[in-house]
Formats: sequence, C-alpha cells, structure tokens
Amino acid sequence: MSERKRIGILTSGGDCAGLNAVIRAVTRCAVDVYGWEVLGICKATHGLMSRPPQAMPLYVNNVDRLLTMGGTVLGTTNKGDPFAFPMSNGSLADRSEEIIEGYRQLDLDALIGIGGDGSLAILRKLAQQGGINLVGIPKTIDNDVGITERSIGFDTAVNIATEAIDRLHFTAASHSRVMILEVMGRDAGHIALNAGIAGGADIIMIPELRYKLENICHHIKKRQAMGQDYSIAVVSEAVCTESGELLEQGHFVDCRLGGIGQYLAEQITNLSGAETRVTVLGHTQRGGISSPLDRILASAFGVVAVELVAKEQYDRMVTWQNRQVISVPIAEAIKNYRAVDPKDTLVKTARGLGICFGD
Ligand code: F6P
Repeated sequence: MSERKRIGILTSGGDCAGLNAVIRAVTRCAVDVYGWEVLGICKATHGLMSRPPQAMPLYVNNVDRLLTMGGTVLGTTNKGDPFAFPMSNGSLADRSEEIIEGYRQLDLDALIGIGGDGSLAILRKLAQQGGINLVGIPKTIDNDVGITERSIGFDTAVNIATEAIDRLHFTAASHSRVMILEVMGRDAGHIALNAGIAGGADIIMIPELRYKLENICHHIKKRQAMGQDYSIAVVSEAVCTESGELLEQGHFVDCRLGGIGQYLAEQITNLSGAETRVTVLGHTQRGGISSPLDRILASAFGVVAVELVAKEQYDRMVTWQNRQVISVPIAEAIKNYRAVDPKDTLVKTARGLGICFGD
C-alpha cells in the first residue's frame, strides 16, 4: 500500500457516455483499494480557476450509481483555452497560473484528467508549467486520440448510430428512398465507418476518402437495377462538398460542422432522381446509457490510472492496445491524430461487402 494521497479528477472537452463510469472506477479503486481521498473538480479547469476552487469529495457510495449514467456529473467544457481565455471585455488572458494555484489550494498530490487530444494537450502544458502530477485518460466519440485503439465514448456512439441505421432500413424500404444519416466524428470517419458496417449501410462517406457524386449515384442506380430500390448512406459531418468545401452550421465563433447530409440529399436527387431524406443524429451520439464495452474500458482505464498515481508515474496516458491497458507518455499519445487509414482493415471489409465510398 502506497502512502495516503489526495487526488483530483476532472472531465474536460465534449462530454460522452462512459465519463461517469471512469469517475466511479477511479473513486472505487482510490478510496476502497488504496484508502485515498478523491476530489471531483467541477467544470474541468474552470473549477480550478474559481475561488475557492470548485470541487466535491467523491466516495464509493456517491459514485456507485454512475456506472451506466451518460454525461459527466462533474460538468465539463470544450471552451476557454486557459492560455488564451476569452474575457468579458473581449480580450484574451493567460489564466494558467490561476489553475495551477487552484490545484495547490486543493492540496492535491495528483490529477487524473479525462479528455480528448485537445484537452490533454492543455492539461499537459499546465502540468509542465506548474509541476502538476498528471495522468491522462482518453475519451472522445471521435476515437481520434493518437495512440489508443479505443477512447471512452466511441463504442456507445457507434451503437447509437447503428441503431439509427437499423431503424432507417425499414422506412427507406417502405418508401423506396435514399436515406442519408449524418453522424459526428469531426475530421475522423471512425463512427461512420464502424456504424455503416454494423448497420448494413450501402454507402459510407468519410473525410479521409474523396468521393465523386457520379460514383454515389451510379451505386444507387445499380442497386435499383438489381431490385433494391432503396439505399442507406452514412456520412461523416466533416465530409466536404464535391468541390472541397467544408460545411458549417450557423455563424458561431467556433467551427460547428453540419449540413453535408442535406447537401448530398439535394445533389443525389438532382443527379439520380431518387427521393432522399436526411437524418442528422447530432448530440444523441454523446448521450444516454453507456454501452457495456465503454463501461469495461472506463473501468479498466480508471483502475490503471490510479495504479499509475500509486507508482508515481506521471505525465502518462492510459491506452488500449491489443486488448491490454498500458500507459504511454502523454506527449507521445497525442502527437499524431488518428484518422481512418484508407488501408484500414475495416475499409477493406466495407469494400469486400460491396459498400460504396464514392471514390
Ligand atoms: O469532438 C466530439 C464532438 O461531438 C464532435 O464529434 C462534434 O463535431 C463536436 O464535438 C460537437 O461539439 P459541440 O458539443 O460543441 O457542439
């Protein structure tokens, strides 16, 4: 048994299913197995910026119901880089020292940060500057954190997208329509690729593979000629128009992707005459009950993160590789962005099933 510690845990970036399961796993392991104290920090680094710092003690009995619950009971934010924090007067301020001071005021021995590559990069920068003993846990429905094969939240998102495709099959067949499902994932097509295969889509469009509308329409017509008068297309939100334009929603300060489903529907109708309808799945992919796989991953990641703190191995992120949880330096983990490799085995699987990428 290592010496008694007081650790903090925070969730940062966009929420996803499985975050609460990590909070539970870390608390159970740290409190029950190691006899430590755990503080849940509210609203990511914003909690450490507040005075007094906003944090709540976590015990086994107040985390036990969290296993299945979506979202994060600690709250989170994907806004406000502390090194260039937007102030009310419109200026940007470096508030990193306030966060480091918040960590010190809570008298923490270590911090477990759950985030995607952007959040982990910020947390690491703070840790380097302020001597924070940081351990990272990867989460994101986009599954694009460099080195880990799986991030928390991805499996649940794929399940939700797959269920949507399952439902679309029936209505598409009843009306002989081309149904287009727009899914999240930012610049990575993992959700579309995985859900498209699992749900039996006919067309999968991902940002990593450039398409031609002509090829998509040819595939739809080929299916019609074979008596399959409906088609299901899954498209990632960051797929561009045929001419290469990235479509964004509204006029927000930050880039919010959206609109490619509608664009494709109009183009397909114009070029092929097929009747089209669009479903934009949006934030439903981040919500709801977490899948068993995400709960397992969250539990395994949480336990190994606490073990790293016990061994005082900091500046490391837990990762899933070849059915093992190991740890790697955070810098190495987030160095490379993990998009879909066009030679990926699942791309080959999809091609082998006759699924059209439009390329
Ligand atoms: O990175 C996760 C993610 O859900 C992306 O797939 C999506 O583009 C984005 O976040 C949405 O962000 P927001 O919650 O700010 O709308």
